[in-house]
Order: sequence, then C-alpha cells, then structure tokens
Amino acid sequence: MTAPVTGTTARTLGEGVLAVEGLVCRFGATWALRGVDLTINAGEVLALLGENGAGKSTLIKILAGVQRPTAGRIRLGDEVFAALTPDQARTHGLAFVHQDLGLLEPLSVAENIAHVAGFRRSLGLIAWRQQIELARELLVRWEIDIDPSTPVQQLEAAQRSLVAVARALARDAKVIVFDEPTAALPRHDVDLLYDAVDRLRAGGVAVVYVTHRLSEVSRLADRAAVLRDGELVGTVTVADTTEHELVEMIVGTKLLGQTSAPAAAAGDLLELRDVTGAGADDVSLTLRRGEILALVGLVGAGHRAVGRLVAGVGVATSGEMQLDGKRFRPRTPRDAQRAGVVYVPGDRLAEGAFPTLDTGTNFSLRERLAAVFTSGRKERVAAGRVFDEWNVVPADPAVPFASLSGGNQQKVVLAKWMTPRPDVLVAEEPTAGVDVGTKSAIYERLADAARSGTAVLLLSSDADEVAVIADRAIIFRHGTPKVELARDAITAARIAQECYAA
Ligand SMILES: Nc1ncnc2c1ncn2[C@@H]1O[C@H](COP(=O)(O)OP(=O)(O)OP(=O)(O)O)[C@@H](O)[C@H]1O
Ligand SMILES: [Mg+2]
Repeated sequence: MTAPVTGTTARTLGEGVLAVEGLVCRFGATWALRGVDLTINAGEVLALLGENGAGKSTLIKILAGVQRPTAGRIRLGDEVFAALTPDQARTHGLAFVHQDLGLLEPLSVAENIAHVAGFRRSLGLIAWRQQIELARELLVRWEIDIDPSTPVQQLEAAQRSLVAVARALARDAKVIVFDEPTAALPRHDVDLLYDAVDRLRAGGVAVVYVTHRLSEVSRLADRAAVLRDGELVGTVTVADTTEHELVEMIVGTKLLGQTSAPAAAAGDLLELRDVTGAGADDVSLTLRRGEILALVGLVGAGHRAVGRLVAGVGVATSGEMQLDGKRFRPRTPRDAQRAGVVYVPGDRLAEGAFPTLDTGTNFSLRERLAAVFTSGRKERVAAGRVFDEWNVVPADPAVPFASLSGGNQQKVVLAKWMTPRPDVLVAEEPTAGVDVGTKSAIYERLADAARSGTAVLLLSSDADEVAVIADRAIIFRHGTPKVELARDAITAARIAQECYAA
C-alpha cells in the first residue's frame, strides 16, 4: 500500500472530490504527462480531450492505480497520495471503464461484475445463484439486455463495452471514469450510456469522460479539459465554448486536411445475388471499383453480416457472389485474401491485432500469413516506412503494440490491411478511437485507395462519417437492404430516419 503523503492538507489541492497536481509520467524517452493539474467536482461531467497519444489513458491508469506516476500528487477526499494502488482507488470510490475494457475474458458477466462489486457469500462459500441474480438486477436496472451467465469471451464488442459499463456502475462510486466508452457502441446503446451518465451526475457522482467525439462533449459534459503532448492546454466550460474552439485547443496550430472529392466509380467489381447466411437475408447488391459504399443499419440489421460473408468470416448458405466476373465463395478469411479481399475488423484487440507482440510484427503478420518470406530486418524497415507515412507515434516497429495509445494501435491495424492496397477493402469502424486530425487523415487514405481503384465496403455506425466519405449508402433492416442513398442524399439525419423506419 502507498501511504498518504503527510503534511499536506486537502485545501492545497483543489476543492473537488478528486484532484491531481504536477502529475508527471515518463516511459523512457516518452513523457506521457508533463505536470498536469486537474480538479474533478462532485455532480459534474468533465470531458477529457486530446489527440491520440496526448496522455489521457495514462492519466486514467494513474487514477486507477495501475500505472505509477513519475512525480506529482493525487488527492482523494482528504487524503493525498504520491501513487495509488488499485485497492486504494477502489476503496476511495473510484470506478473505471478502461479503453481496453479490462474484462476477465474466460469468466462470466456475473463473475466480472462480482469481481468489482464484491462476491456474495453464504456460509463462507460464494453464493452463485445470488450472484447471478444480483448481476441480472443490475443489468435490468441499466436496461442492458445480456444474460449474466454468458462468458465474456462469447460477447460481441458492443456487449463487452456494456458489461464494462455495468461493472463500473455496480458499485456506489464517487467518481466514474469512462475511457472512450462509445467507440464500439451502436446508436441505441450510446443513448443508454448517455442516460446513465445523466443519472450519475444527478446523483452527485463525478464523471470523467474521455472521447474523440465532440458531439458527445456538448451532449454530456459541463467542463472540458484538453491535453496536448502530456500538458494541460486548458479547462473550459462547455456551454461557453464552440466546437471550433475545442478543436483548436486539441490540435493546436496544426491544419486539418480537407477530405477531397471522391473518384468517379467505374465498373462493377463485386456482385451479390440473393445471398443468405450468417444474419444476412436474401441480399443483392453491387460494389463498384473505386467507390466507397457504406452499409448501414442498427445492430442485427444484416449489414455487418454482409461484410463478414464477403470477407470469408461467415459462409453463405444460399445465393451467389461474383468477384470480377468470377464465382466467389470464400470459406475462410485466407480464401478471401487470396482473391484480393481484406477485412479490417471493428474489434481491434480481439480480432485485429496481437497486443503482446511488437508493433512491427503486428504490421507484417499479414505478410507472414501470406507466406511471403522477408528477413526480420527488411520487415522492420518496411514497417517503419509505412508507420512514418501513417503518422504512427512512435513510428518504431520494435515497441510493444500494447504500449501504443488506442488511436495509434488503430493506425497500425489499418496500415497493415491497406499495404499493399487490396482490390476490396471491408472496413468496419475504421476510425473508432482516433482523434479528429487522424480521422481526416484516414478519410483521405480511404479516398486515396478508392481513387487508385480499391472498392471500399464501409461498415460504420458513425452517420456523420458515412455522410462525409461514402459515395453511396445502403440502409439495412431485418437482414436485407431497404433503401439506397446516392452521395448527395446522404446526411446523418436521413440515415437515422431510414435505420429506425418501421
Ligand atoms: N506502457 C507504455 N510504455 C511505453 N509508452 C507508453 C506506455 N503507455 C503509454 N505510452 C505512451 O504514452 C503516450 C500517451 O499515451 P496514452 O495512451 O495516454 O494516450 P491517449 O491520450 O490515451 O491516446 P488515444 O486517444 O490514442 O487513446 C503515448 O506516446 C504512448 O505511446
Ligand atoms: Mg487512450
């Protein structure tokens, strides 16, 4: 246990329930935090903003006691600490939804919740029936529709996020910290989470909310604190600040790239005729060379299933697919890759990458699977060059993938699948967790790929994103395509309207 620092009164460290002062965190040559002061008040939502790698998750890990700061102080209630242990954070009423969720995969939803909320015991034994009942009540109270006895590893990305949220809500916390909780959540669940945040604030809980979505800041937050390169740029009242001002605080003087006009699509490349299977029901559509086609819908609407069928992750039970005029029936992702179709899954950590390996290996794994022999050194040089191009920070292929910030991990995964350029790119949530600047850089890269002839199948739950980059959008309901929108007809409002139409 870390003992409280003596001789410091609460007064010297801000008035709120929680405050940090002079917080420094260094990883070798990287200064993730360079002396940050911040106060968090009861009954307020504080948005914590900043570019990928700005230091947000590091600050949160320090509060959770899983990362030790290099210098600085943390005040919780009346006690001041040089560093926290996870136990101290817990007993002082701090709860977390981490960016990587931190769930115990092989355990059930109920066990994961109990792990944080405490186990029910009867005669010294864990009372499982009671435990599951409690988890069920909690899930019902927060309107989360998941069976508490399901092992976490069987859940989809969005459900995992909800379990992490429920777990944080399971305790009567004084401070709840969310690190990009909506990055993997579909619209309906996002609304549930917003309601939960409103309820917490009304109940006097202090909420820290990390996000790259500025619309969430105005919807949820009272104040916003912006980090840049490990320094606090400033703290502002959201009601008095425009979105433009926030962007300026986040990116500094850097200019954001404009997304250029899409290329004119030419020629059909992929055709689906009456395809059924894996959640898609009698789907017919065509994907043209050089276009970005967005498939949109609510959870279970079938659009993601189509992406998976095309990528060889699921197999169609009937119907036919043709790629470049030839019969296309991939049974595995390898089959699809051999035919020139690559798939970037939305759940980066579960499916897209190998966190314990270094970044360079993560990058070149695609080549390895394709059995293209290259020496380790050559691989690293090639990976380094691509990382430079994609602004991966650090651009060093030797660092462990897990040590990259969330947005930089996303860049590595995307760079991997887009180098060399595939004929068909199935991209699921390609900008989940990336900052505003990186987002426009990724849009530019997708548009570039399309201009050079790649057909992009975009699966995105971000309607604004679809409106910015898609040439066409097809809205799915109940397993089938219902409406097609041409570029000029695609707006976020129209997409929402069509998704929810009866
Ligand atoms: N364990 C670690 N070892 C080495 N460097 C690290 C480690 N953890 C974080 N870093 C570095 O510290 C910096 C801050 O990372 P952090 O994860 O806090 O960023 P972030 O603001 O959460 O970004 P994002 O929006 O991408 O999630 C980055 O440069 C990152 O590479
Ligand atoms: Mg982060």
